[in-house]
Amino acid sequence: KRVAILVSGGGSNMVSLIDSMLGDHPARPCLVLSNNADAGGLAKAQARRVATAVVDHRPYGEDRVSYEKQLIDALEAAQPDIICLAGFMRVLTEHFVNHWQGRMLNIHPSLLPKYRGLNTHARALEAGDAEAGCTVHEVTPALDDGPILGQARVPILAGDTPESLAKRVLTQEHILYPAVLQRFAAGVTERIDLA
Ligand code: GRF
Repeated sequence: KRVAILVSGGGSNMVSLIDSMLGDHPARPCLVLSNNADAGGLAKAQARRVATAVVDHRPYGEDRVSYEKQLIDALEAAQPDIICLAGFMRVLTEHFVNHWQGRMLNIHPSLLPKYRGLNTHARALEAGDAEAGCTVHEVTPALDDGPILGQARVPILAGDTPESLAKRVLTQEHILYPAVLQRFAAGVTERIDLA
């Protein structure tokens, strides 16, 4: 299977995915695409000899349809079987999502269905939760929704800040996302729960 990864930032999840696709793994990376030419993830992909592309959203303004047409063209050129969103900070329209129906995964830094959207760690601390975590799910048109493929949990500790909690969760993201991708690429969609 061929995997395209979409990033906007540092790309630590992207790195964990690329570095997992070795040996008898059923998938290989075919493209890393960013909406942001400055994304740190692009250099990390190039260092791993993975093809990269940039489709900047800014020239398109509010015209999501034209932007996503360019995105789809750039992705289709790499002939991916699976699309992994890994910190891709653009909301995607129903048209784009439906184009990749059943083939697109996302990682979200909360135990969905709790805390869809942004600032998940601050919200978990504010609520006094005892634990937090991350979720990999299939992408459907509703934001941070769609069938859950896996979750990993971490404790919330006394004195945690959004930053300290984010760091603890990110460590688990780097374990969970490759584990789910490997299963998904092999055709397994049964949910896994780590820790
Ligand atoms: C991660 O916390 C991911 O869950 C969220 O955005 C962050 C991306 O980090 N959606 P990175 O670019 O993978 O380092």
